Amino acid sequence: MAKVYITRQIPDSGIKMLKNAGHEVVVSAKDGVLTKDELTSALKKDKYDAVLSLLTDHVDADVFDAAGKQCKIFANYAVGFDNIDMQAARARDVAITNTPDVLTETVAEHTFALMLAIAHRVAEADRFTRKGLYKGWAPMLLLGTDISKKTLGIVGLGRIGTRVAYHAVKGFGMNLLYYDVKRNEDFEKELGAVFEASVEDLLSLADFVSIHVPLLDSTRHLINEARLRMMKKTAYLVNTSRGPIVDERALGLALIEGTIRGAALDVFENEPNIDKRLLESENAILTPHIASATEETRQRMSEIAAQNIIEMLSGKIPPNIVIVK
Ligand code: GLV
Ligand code: GLV
Repeated sequence: MAKVYITRQIPDSGIKMLKNAGHEVVVSAKDGVLTKDELTSALKKDKYDAVLSLLTDHVDADVFDAAGKQCKIFANYAVGFDNIDMQAARARDVAITNTPDVLTETVAEHTFALMLAIAHRVAEADRFTRKGLYKGWAPMLLLGTDISKKTLGIVGLGRIGTRVAYHAVKGFGMNLLYYDVKRNEDFEKELGAVFEASVEDLLSLADFVSIHVPLLDSTRHLINEARLRMMKKTAYLVNTSRGPIVDERALGLALIEGTIRGAALDVFENEPNIDKRLLESENAILTPHIASATEETRQRMSEIAAQNIIEMLSGKIPPNIVIVK
């Protein structure tokens, strides 16, 4: 029997799997994110063979050292793993796993929820209605913009970017541009997509830009002030990837100055804090990092994270091991 530490309450299904596999499970009792001190203390207090971590846990060398040599795996409950110091993990031979695939469709759906909501001014219209401002149908009331037949620029053609592209073309007849470090000609043929050799080209042509890259040194502030200026004045930015990919201050200013028409964001540069300009902007839709938050998907994420731990502890290579070169 091995011992597993979970840094915060997650949906039950994965916890049950761990217990059914004969493992002892300890879930942090705190209703919130553990501070680094709380996390290292918890890991020092007892010996754990595996940790199930969340994207809000900053897992670095100190945390691995607190867990000690006995701890073989940190199973991250997220597809992203920018919260984990991968070099420190590799130096200590700790396996890192993520939860890809199970959340792809859900995040693609949320991307569309945001894109449609910003284009059709859904949140703004809802606020308007609740304030009692609706005085009857009017020809010029809250005019938005269609997404059908418009040009979508996908930055990052991974699993999620690909699903967003598919819905855009099949569902809304959008024209598709994409930028990625890798070109994918099969994808181009299947969806009539056009590869742009630079982010700048894509930004200057797209009516909607949707970000789907992981957070890396090379993608931090990929969307900055200069690049926002390259976008059409009528364009919208959608981000369901990681906040720091967009220079949030520059985006706040761009919305005030009318550099672009709007932004719909699920992620922020310094979560849970959000730039005041964005909070005050009618041209922004802001959701609190919930793109994968459906009941079905969060349960499956719990199960996948558990499965990775179970396989690791039985001496196998976990299915979602993350390898960073
Ligand atoms: C959520 O942001 C994730 O990476 O799963
Ligand atoms: C994440 O799952 C991605 O590759 O988009």
